[in-house]
Amino acid sequence: MDLAETARAVRDNAYAPYSGFKVGAALQGADGTLFAGCNVENVAYPEGTCAEAGAIAAMVAAGQTRFEAAYVVADSPTPVTPCGGCRQKLAEFARGPDVVVTMATIGGEEMSLTIAELLPGAFDAAQMDIAKS
Ligand code: THU
Repeated sequence: MDLAETARAVRDNAYAPYSGFKVGAALQGADGTLFAGCNVENVAYPEGTCAEAGAIAAMVAAGQTRFEAAYVVADSPTPVTPCGGCRQKLAEFARGPDVVVTMATIGGEEMSLTIAELLPGAFDAAQMDIAKS
């Protein structure tokens, strides 16, 4: 499966009984490995997690901390764009600001933006004079 297929497949497993809005996300790790995540909601609504966060957690749990590309898909009228919190989370683990995030509808419409376009002026480790390892 490629990156898009991985995101589409994991979307089927999303747990979204409250919003009814299933999202799938996939990341291509630095070594080419693909990681998948879906949104996982909770009756205590703020405890729900986004698909992007799930994919990041899967990547980090597998021992990788950088991704080269991301794909997010939902059954939305237009390609779904990551929420503000997920933009910050994606920026933390993208290899660089030029990394492309492709957003898609299940119908096949796609839109691509870089990490820098999704989160201009991102707060990052350099502002704390910290080197990210
Ligand atoms: N959601 C994601 O998982 N990723 C996005 O990029 C947008 C929103 C989820 C959160 C919640 O479970 C549902 O979609 C509705 O907001």
